[in-house]
Order: sequence, then C-alpha cells, then structure tokens
Amino acid sequence: MTDLNYDKSLHLKELIPQSAIDEIEQWILKYPAERKRPPIMPALKVVQEHNGNYLTTEMMQAVAEYLDVPHVAVYEVATFYTMFNLNEMGKHVLSVCTNLSCSLRGSDKVVEHLQNRLNIKLGETTKDGVFTIKEVECMAACGGAPMLEVDKVYHENLTEEKIDKILSDIAAQHMPAKEEDNNGK
Ligand code: FES
Repeated sequence: MTDLNYDKSLHLKELIPQSAIDEIEQWILKYPAERKRPPIMPALKVVQEHNGNYLTTEMMQAVAEYLDVPHVAVYEVATFYTMFNLNEMGKHVLSVCTNLSCSLRGSDKVVEHLQNRLNIKLGETTKDGVFTIKEVECMAACGGAPMLEVDKVYHENLTEEKIDKILSDIAAQHMPAKEEDNNGK
C-alpha cells in the first residue's frame, strides 16, 4: 500500500538540526542504497529525540519524504513499536514493562506505586510536564524484572525504594536553583 498524497512540502532539514540529519545519514549509509526502509526506525528515533520525546504527523511525513518511502511505511513503524510516542510527553518518560516476566515479578505494583507517587494514571503526564508514565512491551531485560526505562537507562529489580530514588533524583534536576547559588555565594 502506498500513500503518495502526503504533504511533500514538509522537509526534514527544516524541522531538525543538521547534527540530527548527519546522524540519520550515518544510518542510511549502513544499508544498500536500494534498501530504503531499514533506516526508518533509527531515523524516527533521532527525530523523536530532537522533538521533546514525541513524533508529530508532520515529522513522520518529513521522514518519509527524506527517506523516499511511502508515508504509511513510516507510520506503521511509529505505531508498531512502543518506543515511539505519538502524543506530547513529559520531559522524562517512565517506560514500565508490563510484559510476561515483569508482570510475574510485580510490574502491576510498580505501576501502582508510580501512579500513587505522581498522582497520574498510565499514559498521563504530571501537571509540571516533568513525568509521563508509559506502559511498554518487553525491553529485553527480563532477567532484571520488574524493570522500567527512563532517559535511556534501565532500572531493574525494582522495589518501592528504588522507584522513590529514581523519582527524587529526576525531581532534583528540576528544582529551582537556590538564591545564594544565583548570587554566587
Ligand atoms: S518482560 Fe519485562 S523486560 Fe522482558
């Protein structure tokens, strides 16, 4: 199925920095020129990172235009893999695996604890825009179940204490600087 009706006026080079384009080019070079689809996933990852953790329809169209593939091919990848976010996310996405191994080892308790601590439900973002809780499929860290990933770091064998530490460490990054620090004292 092809989709030739998407907006081809959307150009990736106008949406993300040149450094990100260079990164995508590196991925394209890893595959034979006639194989245009394998770079879709790495290209989407790069674009998402440069767009505050989520992809817009315009960005997916621009990736399609850049890689010269049908828009639907990009959309299929973006909607199939849980690593891609199609809605605005918080600055830190807490990706909780709820697949079999994690489920058997208490991922429901992890989700419950996060929801209680942050006062949001799965898929929601805190009012200050700092945290989003997201449910994801197996992240190939089953030996460390239950686990979550945040900011590209895996946290395994989770306990309530470990979760509290993860949350407080991230929250500390968003604390306003103390007045004396601002005055250089
Ligand atoms: S089931 Fe959770 S990482 Fe594999």
